[in-house]
Amino acid sequence: MKKETIIVIGSNGQIGTELVADLRSVYGGSNVIASDIREPDYETKNAGPFEFVNVLNKENLAGVINKYKPTQIYLLAALLSATGEQNPKLAWDLNMNGLINVLDFAVEQKISKIYWPSSIAVFGPNSPKEQTPQYCAMDPNTVYGISKLAGERWCEYYFLKHGLDVRSLRYPGLISWKSQPGGGTTDYAVHIFHEALKNGSYESFLSANTELPMMYMNDAIKATIGLMDAEAEKVKIRSSYNVSAVSFTPTELTTEIKKYIPDFTISYKDNDPRQAIADSWPKSIDDSRARQDWGWKHDFNMKKMTEDMILNLKTPTELSK
Ligand code: SER
Repeated sequence: MKKETIIVIGSNGQIGTELVADLRSVYGGSNVIASDIREPDYETKNAGPFEFVNVLNKENLAGVINKYKPTQIYLLAALLSATGEQNPKLAWDLNMNGLINVLDFAVEQKISKIYWPSSIAVFGPNSPKEQTPQYCAMDPNTVYGISKLAGERWCEYYFLKHGLDVRSLRYPGLISWKSQPGGGTTDYAVHIFHEALKNGSYESFLSANTELPMMYMNDAIKATIGLMDAEAEKVKIRSSYNVSAVSFTPTELTTEIKKYIPDFTISYKDNDPRQAIADSWPKSIDDSRARQDWGWKHDFNMKKMTEDMILNLKTPTELSK
């Protein structure tokens, strides 16, 4: 295997924590540099190099790039949909200028491959809700969605104008047990598991029948590494690929969780601002291009995901009950 040196920017987040561990198992601990504005957890820090990186600070970014001379960069630092609405200017600045800084360094330093995540948030109220296609009306109305859609255009632009090998996926809501999500609209689908196991009940900020596209983190990491490993000719979409696994509502997830925790109860909050965001997003995604172009295939349906979440989040005391 060709030697790669990989920098993951935003490595402390929900995706970064798992991606760094997986990349390290493939490429070796010392070849994958974790980086974030905050200190990482003990495990990440001890398994390989870590650098403080603020993607908006070009000098800081240049220093780290010059030190390691990476062949690949994964840029994960971003403000998500709900947090973005609380601080729209910061979300725009971080999500947009962070990306442009990395794209510029990548061209200048001839970095072979860049990964940048987009999201289902690029779609808006006038996009088709069911099996939302790769190409359709896109009118996002969150600053997060606007920044992701603009970012997709920049990625394609750098590919076309500079020949930069930049790759991207439009993630749906991501569900994981190793780390918590950070400020998204789909976060309820992670919180629900923690609360079900801890308290036996959960108050959902999304309504009972809000259906959203979701994916288990194992699949998200598989899709990410799968896209990055694909031969360049197979990566035909250079803005960002639709990817999908499952779609469900809080009610459907509750029914599944009750198979393990029969007394679990769910209630619903009124007037949460995240409801309007969810209502503007697709219910399900058509990801046939990813499946055709580079062989994407998901492994986890809602049943398998729920089983794995509960098994991993159960404390030894709960297991012995
Ligand atoms: N999970 C993200 C969010 O809810 C969607 O990309 O903001």
